[in-house]
Amino acid sequence: MIMSFKKITFGMLAVASVFALTACGSSQSKDSLEKIKDKGTLTVAMNPEFAPFEFKTLVNGKDTVVGADVEIAKAIGEELGVKVKFSTMSFNNVLASVKSGKADIAISGISATEERQKVYDFSETYYESKSVLIVQKSQLASATSTDSFADKSIATQKGSIQETIAKANFSSAHMVSLTQPGEAINELKSGQVQGVVLEEAIAKGYVAKNDDLAIADLTLKSESTDAYAVAIPKGSDKLKATVDKVITQLKKEGKIDNFVQTAYEQSLDSDKD
Ligand code: ARG
Repeated sequence: MIMSFKKITFGMLAVASVFALTACGSSQSKDSLEKIKDKGTLTVAMNPEFAPFEFKTLVNGKDTVVGADVEIAKAIGEELGVKVKFSTMSFNNVLASVKSGKADIAISGISATEERQKVYDFSETYYESKSVLIVQKSQLASATSTDSFADKSIATQKGSIQETIAKANFSSAHMVSLTQPGEAINELKSGQVQGVVLEEAIAKGYVAKNDDLAIADLTLKSESTDAYAVAIPKGSDKLKATVDKVITQLKKEGKIDNFVQTAYEQSLDSDKD
């Protein structure tokens, strides 16, 4: 009698541990990829104040998020066979939303720096970028060296690598960190700051739309990896493989450059910044 009781207890324990093992195993093997497919939606975090990569414009009278990153997101959604939902926020919240699981991935002109790679996985890079300084056109002639900005104010977007780049290049300037690039541009136009550090593709758009602005003839050094990549939660290997496949294909077909060019033209036509 005692023996059989022991056997039963042991049997129950064995069953319980098998359960525990499978439960644990399946939750680990359930990559973000399967979760996204189950939901039928890919939620993409972005800060749409960043033409030509993501910006808002009127499409058929409706405020719509468009841009090269939007096209990349759509291509990933297509490959996964799911709908794409854009979750828009300020840039300093974009990466955090991937960490908290509010968004599945982030595509927002994000530079895949070593620092960020400690916390997130990144896809293959899809765009090479470099930072430039925008100044008032009337000041262009005197903006010949980073030293000429000593005691002046330089604005950057909060949470962007340009904060670090500006600090490293203009060590004796005053740093101003603002939520949106558009705010930094307004401060520059009104003379509150004397320079704005932005990436070239974005800076080009602002300069094309504002006659009073120009890109300074200065080379800014950067210690980090500036190229853009899709941010993915750590350990989502299958999701990363799918995203990489899409990006590799788009790059091979020259589509990313087309997306950027088309979106650039669209951003110049649009009356929104
Ligand atoms: N490439 C820079 C970074 O990763 C700036 C990105 C800003 N993106 C945006 N959508 N506002 O820090």
